[in-house]
Amino acid sequence: MNMQTTPHLPFYHATARECELFETAYENGLPLLLKGPTGCGKTRFVEHMAAKLGKPLYTVACHDDLSAADLIGRYLLKGGETVWVDGPLTRAVREGGICYLDEVVEARKDVTVVLHPLTDTRRTLMIDRTGEELVAPKGFMLVASYNPGYQNVLKRLKPSTRQRFLSASFDFPTPEIEIAVVAQESGLDAGRVAPLVRLAGHIRALSGMDLEEGVSTRLLIYAATLMASGMGVDQALEAAIIEPLSDEPDVGLALRDLISTIYG
Ligand SMILES: Nc1ncnc2c1ncn2[C@@H]1O[C@H](COP(=O)(O)OP(=O)(O)O)[C@@H](O)[C@H]1O
Ligand SMILES: [Mg+2]
Repeated sequence: MNMQTTPHLPFYHATARECELFETAYENGLPLLLKGPTGCGKTRFVEHMAAKLGKPLYTVACHDDLSAADLIGRYLLKGGETVWVDGPLTRAVREGGICYLDEVVEARKDVTVVLHPLTDTRRTLMIDRTGEELVAPKGFMLVASYNPGYQNVLKRLKPSTRQRFLSASFDFPTPEIEIAVVAQESGLDAGRVAPLVRLAGHIRALSGMDLEEGVSTRLLIYAATLMASGMGVDQALEAAIIEPLSDEPDVGLALRDLISTIYG
C-alpha cells in the first residue's frame, strides 16, 4: 500500500471525458471501475484525480493472496500488546479518502464480500474483528481497476460486483495524445517519439494473434527514456519492446521485421 497526498498534480492527459465522470462520481459518492489494458494510464488517472480533488489516496495492488484482512486491518502484536491496525480500506473510510483497488479481480473472493455493503446505499464497512461498523463519510470513494483482456474465465468480475460500480473503458490513447504523453514523460522530442507510436499501432494490430497483449504506453515511455539518455534505437527497442513482449524467437523476429519497416 502506498499513501500519497501529492502537493503537485501528477501529469495526466485526458483521452475522453473521464475527468468529468470521476468528479461527478466523487461528488455523488458512487464507486467507479476502470477497465483497460496494462499500462494505458488507469493508475496515473486516479493519482491525478485524487490530487486534483485534494484527497488522500490509498492504492492497493491486488494479488491472489490479498485477503479481506489486508484491506480492513488486523490485530498485531506490538511490544507485548495486541493492537488493532487499520488496513488501507479502513483508513480511507475513516478519513473520507479515495481507496483504489488496482487489478481487483486478482483479489480473493472474500474481498468482494467486504466491498458490497460499501458500494450500495449503506456505505458501511463491517469490521468483524472489532465489532465496529463504519459508515463512510462524504468524500470516501472506492475506485477499482481491472484488465478485461486477460482471457481467464475464472478471473472475471462477477455481475453482482460489476453492477455496483459505474464503469469506464480505458484504451491506449490516440496517436497525437500518445506522442504528447510519451514525449512529456521521457523528455524525448516529439519528432523522435512519433515513429515509436507508429510502431505501437502496428504491434497492437498484431495482438491477440501472436501476442497476448499489445505494447503498453509504459513500454513506449521506457524506450523513449533510453533513447533520450543517448542509447541507440536498436538497443532501446530490444530492451524496452521486443524482450518484454515476447519469449518466443518467432515473435521476436516478427517484431524486428516490423521495426525495420518503420525505422528502415
Ligand atoms: N493519459 C496519460 N497521461 C499521462 N501519462 C500517461 C497516460 N497514459 C499513460 N501514461 C503513462 O504511462 C504509464 C503507465 O500508466 P499506468 O497509469 O501505470 O497504467 P495502468 O495503471 O493502466 O496499468 C504512467 O506512469 C504514465 O507515465
Ligand atoms: Mg495500474
